[in-house]
Amino acid sequence: MRTTVKNAQEIVAALSLDDKIRLISGHDFWTTEAIPGAGIRAMTLTDGPHGLRKQRNAGNVANVTDSVPATCFPTGVALASTWDPVLLEEVGVALGRECRAEDVPVLLGPGLNIKRHPAGGRNFEYFSEDPVVAGRMAAGLVRGIQSQGVAACLKHFAANNQESWRMSIDAVVDERTLRELYLTGFEIAVRESDPWTVMCAYNQVNGTHCGETRGLLTEILREEWEFDGLAMTDWLATFDRVPAIRAGLDLEMPGSTATWDREIAAALKSRTLDAADLDLACARVVDLVLRTAPPSGARSKAAPAPDFAAHHALARRAAAAGTVLLTNDGLLPLSPRATIAVIGAFAESPRYQGAGSSLVTPTRLDTFLDVLREQAGESRVTYAPGYDPITGDTTDALLSQAAQVAAAADAVVVLVGLPSRMESEGFDRDHLRLPEGHDRLVGAVVDANPRTAVALFNGAPVEMPWVARPAAILESYLGGQAGGAALADVVLGAAEPGGRLAESFPAHASDLPASANFPGDATQVQYREGLYVGYRFHDASGVAPLFPFGHGLGYTQFEYSGVKVAPVGAGWDVTVAIKNAGKRAGSEVVQIYVRDVVSTAYRPVKELKGFAKVHLAPGASQKVTVSLDRRAFAVWDVTSHEWRVENGDFEVLVCASSSDVRGAATITVLSPDVAATSAGPSDPAYVATDAEFEGMLGHPVPVEASLLPFHRDSTVSALRATTLGRVVRAIIVRVARRSFGGDDDPDTKAGNEALIENLPLRGVAMASHGTLSLRRLDHLIHVLNGASPKALLARRRGRRGPSRHPVTHATPASSAQTGANP
Ligand code: BGC
Repeated sequence: MRTTVKNAQEIVAALSLDDKIRLISGHDFWTTEAIPGAGIRAMTLTDGPHGLRKQRNAGNVANVTDSVPATCFPTGVALASTWDPVLLEEVGVALGRECRAEDVPVLLGPGLNIKRHPAGGRNFEYFSEDPVVAGRMAAGLVRGIQSQGVAACLKHFAANNQESWRMSIDAVVDERTLRELYLTGFEIAVRESDPWTVMCAYNQVNGTHCGETRGLLTEILREEWEFDGLAMTDWLATFDRVPAIRAGLDLEMPGSTATWDREIAAALKSRTLDAADLDLACARVVDLVLRTAPPSGARSKAAPAPDFAAHHALARRAAAAGTVLLTNDGLLPLSPRATIAVIGAFAESPRYQGAGSSLVTPTRLDTFLDVLREQAGESRVTYAPGYDPITGDTTDALLSQAAQVAAAADAVVVLVGLPSRMESEGFDRDHLRLPEGHDRLVGAVVDANPRTAVALFNGAPVEMPWVARPAAILESYLGGQAGGAALADVVLGAAEPGGRLAESFPAHASDLPASANFPGDATQVQYREGLYVGYRFHDASGVAPLFPFGHGLGYTQFEYSGVKVAPVGAGWDVTVAIKNAGKRAGSEVVQIYVRDVVSTAYRPVKELKGFAKVHLAPGASQKVTVSLDRRAFAVWDVTSHEWRVENGDFEVLVCASSSDVRGAATITVLSPDVAATSAGPSDPAYVATDAEFEGMLGHPVPVEASLLPFHRDSTVSALRATTLGRVVRAIIVRVARRSFGGDDDPDTKAGNEALIENLPLRGVAMASHGTLSLRRLDHLIHVLNGASPKALLARRRGRRGPSRHPVTHATPASSAQTGANP
């Protein structure tokens, strides 16, 4: 046992009951409770993930636009495209140092939810559609952050794959898909990096809120994966605190002004809550306090000021390493003497991070235009904005100016993408198109000068109706504060675009089976596509993506030879020789996929099981080894609830992308396991029918809960269903708007509005600083459901006993809720 755990237990044993109850709920929006008499200091928890967002005026407000300056590193999607956990560890170290300097012991990131659908509003913050990439990238960051004595936080556990109704929706997902796709990344990150905290997701999984699912928080996370840190709620995620403590949810954030204290005390008294469970939660809070304490002796000394210049340089390197060259007919890198037309307002007003809780105030901000002018010389660079950076709209005048400027230059770089208000935490996109103005601009510029490179700035895949026309396409994603400089480095050839897509770009969103159930309905979303997400779908169906998972060209070419797969201990080592056959230094991502040749269970055609990034000088070669353990061949068996390996032949594919196989070897895996059998969604649609989904779930498909009558989990938006509801909603919205800062910022506003609409009524109570107690909330809900306020009041005065109209915590019976929890 770690000494801090033992010490924590001793400290907790000496606390009063009141102190214990106080300790497991935050003090305010960003800090935990201090109990000075017991030597327990308060901890500040801040977002995350791609930079420190420490609010200047903390306390009980959520103001995403007013935080201390910090290095804004590339967002999760851009970091993941580096496929370089070592680089992410470096970024993590820098994040940890900035946290330490600001006295922040807990950074709320990384987020590693699977990108089930490319329209997910928060995809920019997440890593991948594949759990191996997501888990390994997260592990790199965690190791770096925690090397500085700062706790990282894996979030959002689990199956938080959309923003629509994110705080209450029930994700109905079969056990095998949950295990193989949605939990595996968390498992890898826990096992590889020992995170000190995990944040549970807002949503429900199979009928139970994540924060109350003992299967997730205790059985899987702690008992199976051996997580030994603290589990906290997402902000205002608590649905019912007592069962949450029992489930293994230690800390409630933010503090809910004693909302649950009475219930916890009553549960202890009636022994529906075991005192040992409360003690355990307290001990984990204290353990985190001790684990993140500044090193002894450093207590009085302030942590050293971070080297912001070095961190900026690192952010620039990481952004270039995450830039993906999608197509190139040889235009890039640009020739050193070419005159360059820069088109697109993002060159001056960069789109470099996503809106919402991850919004960082950068220490500085590079623009592509400035850096290009500086590096290429003013006289070589001309510019036309082409569109409005806020709306994305263009005009005929802007288009013709852009065409003229483009036509007069040797080469053109046109910057397009998604304006902030089109993607944000809080809402999902309802299509994958660029703003019409951006599509028109690309067309006009390519017409004027075919020697055009398009650089995309967006947090997630977009459709490209013009894909075949430009001479080159770069996916820059949201590259952080140095993203503009990184693009200049890449187009001029000072850096290679080192990225590979960590997600598939579909040609059309409608191609995807998940589109049939994304984002679902207000109370439920059914994962009927099972494992057919991303390349797993494209491989199986033969529906070609626009760009495949793992794709990226770089500026040189690599040759693969001598693929060998040899047994080593209980696993296998895959080796391959990689040679840089081009004239420039460059990096390659060697991707190892496994295919079960004959399987009794339904399986994707192939799945990524390992990868390695190599950097090679021109002409240089290197032998690359990737180890595969037994798990690389396994499926989750829903009968025995364990991983099973089928006996037989497996193909090991050595690839440069999911659709570029460079070598293969077939091995025979001998396994005593009884074969797993399971069926999934059948072709051609890959959307499970009712019967297929029932088979996958192992029980009838749960009926979607109705919006009425209202209950504690009804969202503010659902109040629109009745006249009185609309009145109450208007009041809540007015009050909530006042408590958010940043309303004058249009990008933040859209996310805030969505956040308010998605807030469940219990969340309104918890955020009310004690004004709306749960009792009052229940009363309000009765009234909203048609009870006369007077009668309720009279009844309350006449009786002190329980209400004759108890308000249940539960969402109204979704009739076939079953025990399909993991
Ligand atoms: C987000 C979390 C974030 C928290 C605190 C929530 O709404 O989902 O990722 O850490 O707010 O800002």
